[in-house]
Parts: sequence; C-alpha cells; structure tokens
Amino acid sequence: SVKRLSDYQPPDFAIDRTDLTFELDVDKTVVTAVLELRRLDPQVSELCLDGQQLQLLSLHYNDSLMADDQFDCRGHQLRLKVSENNFRLTIKTQINPQANTALEGLYFANGSFCTQCEAEGFRRITYYLDRPDVLSVFSTTIIADAAHFPYLLSNGNKVEERPLSNGQKLVCWQDPFPKPSYLFALVAGDFDLLRGEYLTRSGRLVGLDFFVEKGQSGKAAFALDALKRSMQWDEQRFGLEYDLDRYMVVAVDFFNMGAMENKGLNVFNSKYVLVSQDTATDTDFFNVESIIGHEYFHNWTGNRVTCRDWFQLSLKEGLTVFRDQEFSRDMGSATVNRIHAVQVIRTAQFAEDASPMAHPIRPQQVMEMNNFYTVTVYDKGAEVIRMLHTLLGEAGFQAGMRLYFQRHDGQAVTCDDFVQAMQDANHYDLTAFRLWYQQSGTPELTVQRHYDAPNQRLTLRLSQQTPATADQSDKAALVLPVRYQLLDTTCSPSGLFVMQKSSDTLVFDGVSAQALPVLLEDFSAPVRLKHDYTEQELLRIAKEAANGFARWDALQSCWLLWLQQTMEQASDFVLPDALFELYQQLLSQPLDDKALTAELLKVPDYGVFAESFQQIPVHAILSAIDSFRQQICQRLAPELQSCYQQHSAAAVDYNEANVGLRALKNRCLDYLAVQGQSSESLLQQQYGAANNMTDKLAVLKACLNSSHPAFLSLMQQFANEWQHDVLVLDKWFSLHAANPTIAVFEQISLLCQHPKFSWQNPNRVRAVFHAFAMQNPGQFHRLDGRGYQLLTDTLLKLDPINPQVAARLVTPLLSWQRFDSKRQALMKEALHRLSSQQGISDDLYEKVSKALANE
Ligand code: ARG
Ligand code: ZN
Repeated sequence: SVKRLSDYQPPDFAIDRTDLTFELDVDKTVVTAVLELRRLDPQVSELCLDGQQLQLLSLHYNDSLMADDQFDCRGHQLRLKVSENNFRLTIKTQINPQANTALEGLYFANGSFCTQCEAEGFRRITYYLDRPDVLSVFSTTIIADAAHFPYLLSNGNKVEERPLSNGQKLVCWQDPFPKPSYLFALVAGDFDLLRGEYLTRSGRLVGLDFFVEKGQSGKAAFALDALKRSMQWDEQRFGLEYDLDRYMVVAVDFFNMGAMENKGLNVFNSKYVLVSQDTATDTDFFNVESIIGHEYFHNWTGNRVTCRDWFQLSLKEGLTVFRDQEFSRDMGSATVNRIHAVQVIRTAQFAEDASPMAHPIRPQQVMEMNNFYTVTVYDKGAEVIRMLHTLLGEAGFQAGMRLYFQRHDGQAVTCDDFVQAMQDANHYDLTAFRLWYQQSGTPELTVQRHYDAPNQRLTLRLSQQTPATADQSDKAALVLPVRYQLLDTTCSPSGLFVMQKSSDTLVFDGVSAQALPVLLEDFSAPVRLKHDYTEQELLRIAKEAANGFARWDALQSCWLLWLQQTMEQASDFVLPDALFELYQQLLSQPLDDKALTAELLKVPDYGVFAESFQQIPVHAILSAIDSFRQQICQRLAPELQSCYQQHSAAAVDYNEANVGLRALKNRCLDYLAVQGQSSESLLQQQYGAANNMTDKLAVLKACLNSSHPAFLSLMQQFANEWQHDVLVLDKWFSLHAANPTIAVFEQISLLCQHPKFSWQNPNRVRAVFHAFAMQNPGQFHRLDGRGYQLLTDTLLKLDPINPQVAARLVTPLLSWQRFDSKRQALMKEALHRLSSQQGISDDLYEKVSKALANE
C-alpha cells in the first residue's frame, strides 16, 4: 500500500501523556501503555491506532475493561468508537523480543534488550498513533531480572530505582520534552560504563555516559571526546546547547543502521563507537567523530524540532548531515572532507537518480519508509541546505536558524517551514529555490565559452537541463549557485553567479585570451558539469588553482578523458607526460595538506568512472584502472619509493597531520605493490611493523588491488591475530569478499560458515555481501551470472530474517538498465526470482517491483 504526501491529514487525537511499563522477558515481554488521549475534532467518532506483531492481552477504556466486541483489532490496526473528548486507554500487549530478527521495535540480541523505533518501529511495541506529528510526554518503567540486566535505560531523567522481590528490579524514567514515538528508546543489559561530563556555556553540568560491551570501555574514549567536541562546536557555531542533565550512548553489536538519536539515549552500532589505534583505521575514527556529532546535532535539528510526516525526513536529515559535515570540516582537512562528500553525491547519489528508486529529497510517495533513508534524502538533502548557506552566507543562514527555532521549537514541521524561516530572516525570495524539494534527478549544467579578442571579453553561455527520471518526466530549471574563479595572467577574480533560468550568460571583461574559468568551485550545486575543456586546460587548473578542491576536480575530469582515450585506443594509450610531471612534483614536494596530496595522486575508483556512462562497460573500466596504476608505478617507482620512505614515520595518534602522512605513504605503497614479487618485502615489512590498523589494512588492500601473491598468507596472519574481535574480523570478511578473482565464490561460502558469521547480525552480513556487490564489480557482474545468483540466493535467505538489511543490499541489482543486454537479461532474471518469492517483505518488494515496472 502506497502512502502519498498529498494525502496528509493532521491527527484527530493528541496523546498528552504516555506512561509505559515493560516487564522484560526474552520471549514474553509484557508492555502496559497508559495513554491520556484528547480528541482534537469533536466530529470524529473513531480512534485508529497502529500496531504490528503484537498480541493484545487487554484493553481498558478509562477504568472499564473492553469486551472483544467493543473494538476491532485486525491487520495492523486497533479501532474503537469514541464519544468523549478526554479519555484514558490502558493497553496491555505481549511481544517476543528474541524472535525479532528484523531489529525493529524491541529486540533481544547478544544478551541485551534494545529498541529501534524510527521510522515506524514503535507500533511493534504497543498500539499507538505512531506518526511523528503526535508529540507526547513519556514516562517509562522497566522491570527486569537485576542480575542479567543491571542497567535499565530509557529517555530523560531517572526518577526511581529499587529492587523488587524474585531478584527483579524496577527503574523509572521521565522525559520532560514532548516527543514523537520514533524517538522513544529502551535498553536493558549488562555493560561497562565510561563516564564523562560537559559543562555547557550557560553552566549546566551534563553527565555523559557510554554503555559498551564488557571489557571495551577503553575503546569508547575517543567517542566520548568527540561528543564533548560536538557539544562545544554546536554552542560556538550554532549557539545551541544541550537541554538535559544526562546524555547516554549505548553501543550494540546488532543494529540495522549507523546510529539513532533517541532523546537523551542514543543507540549506536558498536562499529561507530569502539575504536582504538590497533583495531580501527583513520576512516573508522573519522566516522565515529562524524556520527557522534550527527546524532548529537539531531537533539536540536530532529528532536526539539521534528518532522510533521515522514515525507519531510530531509528536514532533519539533510540539515543534520550538513551540520555534521561542517563539524568534520572544522575538525580535519576541510578540502579532503569536501572531496569525500562530493564523491558520495557523484557516485551513489547520481546512481540513485538514474535508478528505478529515483526520488526528490522530499519523496512524494512511499511504500516502506525504511527504503527512504537514502543518499538522496541525506546527502543531496545536505547539498540543498549547503546551497542555502551559499546563497545567504554564514550570518544570513544563522539568522534563519534562529528564526526557525524561535518559530518551531517543540513542533513537528515541514521542509517548507524551514525554507520559510530562511526566507523571512533574510528577506530573500526563495520561491524558485523550493523546486529542489520537489524535483528529482541530476541536473546537467553545460558551459560554452566564447572569447572576443578585440574587446577582451569572455562570455560563458550556461544552460541547464535535468533528464527525466523513473519517477518524474517533466523537469524545470532550478536555482543553481555557481561559484567561480577565473584563472588569468594578472588577476583571478572569483565570485558567485546565481543561475535562475534554463540558460544564462556570464560575462568577464578585460580578460586575456588565456583566461580560464573554474566553475562550480567546491561543488557549489549538486549537478553534472559538462564542458569542453582540453587536457591542457584541465592540467593548468590542477596546477594553478588556489582552491584545492578545484585542483582535484580538474584532475577528475582528466581521468575521465584518459579513460575515454584508453577505450578508443585499446591498450596503446599512454598517460601524458604532463601528468607524470605533476605527480613527480607532488611526490617530491607534497602540499602542506598531505591528505589532499594523496587524493590528487589517486586514480579514481571504479564507481567514479562507472557513473560517467549511461551503459557501464564494467571490464573496460577495470582494465583501464589496472593500466593506469601500472603506468604510474613504472614511471614513478623511485619517486614513490622515496616519498614512501620520507613519510613513513607518523606517530600513532589520530590527528589531521598523522592521518595525512598515513594517507600519503599508503597511496605510495598501493602503487608500489603493483610491482608484484619485488614489493613483497616492503609489504611484509609494513605489515609486521605497523602499530596501527590503518597501516595494516593498507597493506592488505594494496595486495588486493594488485592481485599480489602475498595476499592470502597475510590474510591468514591477520585472521589469526584478530579472531577474537568481531569488528576487526568484519574487515577481513570484506577483503575476502572483494577479492577480484573467481576464487571469491568459494571463499564467500567459507565465510558464511565461519564461527563468527551470523545471518542475524547486520554488520557480519554487510561485511561480506556489501563488499561483494559494491566493491567487487568484476565478479559481481560476471557474464555467467554467478554474481547475480549469489546475491539473489543471499537476499532470499536474508529477507525473512531482516528485510531492512535485505532491501539495502538489493540496490546494485536494480540498475539493470545501465548494463549491456546480456547482463540486463541476467539481472532481470534475478529480480524476477525475488519478486516471485512467497511472502517477500514490503521493503524488498517496493524496490524489486519498481525495478521491473518498465521492463
Ligand atoms: N535517524 C537515524 C540517523 O540518521 C537513522 C535511522 C534510520 N532508521 C531507519 N529505519 N532506516 O541518525
Ligand atoms: Zn540522522
């Protein structure tokens, strides 16, 4: 059943208070919900509550027990006739947390009880108005066995804790802030606790509690510090402070997503809390800091002001991703952070636009909401917020934020309300800008240059056009903020051009014939730029531009040209000397920003190249990448060697300088591994000497990228060292699943029998199958169809266990239209196998049926 944004109706009832009591038991938990309801429209005569997978034990209206014929409890609803304006319902339900492998609602895994309610999981706990625009004041009483579950946690402040008879214990929590049900959380278990505190700007002392698996609290220290940095940063940059006396974070091993911002009680995937130098890479540290920040920033953008309905998800997610990106940028290399965020848009998000799942950042129809926690809603959503920031400037944007909170604190609102606040605070007309919320797809911005020598005038003709997407055929012109710089002999003017129409011109007077415009600096709008720049011009930008992002971006365009040329000239294509000169320069005199240097020295990944084609030539791309890497290694071996040696002495700590040094050194190593045997001692040496996971994993990845003979023996060594640590073992699973040889099939079947593998654990399943489907294009897209078959078999097995995870993994199969006819046929066959499966989940069905819709 499809839900539409245009069908939105405000709720008929308010729930002023929600008092919950949980009698926790692994397979028979009893939940008693006492709801104080208030009818908002006296014309309404029926109340209809959401509920799924619940066993109703009893229902009281005020104090009287309702007989079975006084209400209607069928399907996913509980309906009853209502004649009073104010009344109380007491609903007793029983649920089975242990059987809940979907990990939505209340579940029991790895010895703890845990909840995930966003988007619509609360209805698996009790009957409720499970929608984000119903805000209620919650209290939660938890009763459980005290020995097994010493910590009984929920939102807000702990107001009571006492032992009961039979070894049970009772804890009661009250959350003073009204909230929608999706922000409810409960956790019960035995943990180690790492405590810290933070004094807010206005003098509130906040206790910071991290609950982690026994023995792991040392690995939460970085996350605790990151939380303090987030709290301070939000005060300084946004003027926003925390509002409760306690902030709790629980790290769990079984979790569908990254983390969840439940009020006062975040639940995190353990992978985004637990890091130490010997078990986690610099990327893991980065992710911990950014996700800790993200969930913390939600306290204002998401919790204090929440979404009216789920179509407005980007209201909180786009804005909060923008905020976490700004936080990360202030903590590390600003340029490299921007590069990574842009890569996500240009690969995953553009791919989503071109897929059957295309949708605007505010979707118009949804079958399963969990399918819309997408790179479009999140990351393109953040780009839309970033464009507002670009148009209004930091001061104007902050004025808009202040007005937004002034108007809407404590409310459930829409994306329009947000844009309206930005508009009103700045007296800036954003009417046309709002189209970004409605229109899906990747706009193409084409630039044509004309130089008028007698008048020394350079004219740029810009035109924009958005190709039709699966969900929408008609597209209109968008507001595009185009940041530019003009490289010229004497001066280099820069500025912002706001394009409003489908075509427009930008004129530069008094410029030389050499003037070269750099457009869309810092990716000032999420569009595909089409230009006719020559290799020479692009390399000039790569060398001369002041802006690091522009330099990197020009090189990206070069690589696309060189890929084209490789495909035209087959194996005869030789990379130009100018590239080797530039690389030589970068290797002998790296920029101050070593991480940026490493990015400039990188051959783009498969995904970057693939996204530049309508029909993806899988093997041509892969062999071109191999050839590029070989040429670089052959031409620059001595420079790579000496750069490697000079930058191999980073201290172990995670900080911007050390991260940059490791990135640069390991970029060199990755090329040196192309030499095969003769690089073996170097690889062994780094593997043996490494005092951190970044350097160890870099060796394994370098071996994988070059099909190095040392790969399997090093992997064996790695497995022996890390048997006991599941988060590290996940890296090992992923590396095996990314092995680009046919041996991967045998290997994956062994991985699935590994004692630490579990179909119930999303991290394990993703480690293997996300890596296989997303990081092993050569084997996944085999022409004998074996890759598609393996993924399909996996999804058929996984869907009944965990539909959310299955629906995420199916993504690469949906884009069958992007491949040649043979692969199309094989992919469609796989999709048909999925769609004909009995009892397929809504999650998987929505995606598969869309993919097969216009076959
Ligand atoms: N709100 C969470 C976050 O962005 C993610 C929750 C995802 N939930 C889901 N059902 N897909 O931090
Ligand atoms: Zn979020």
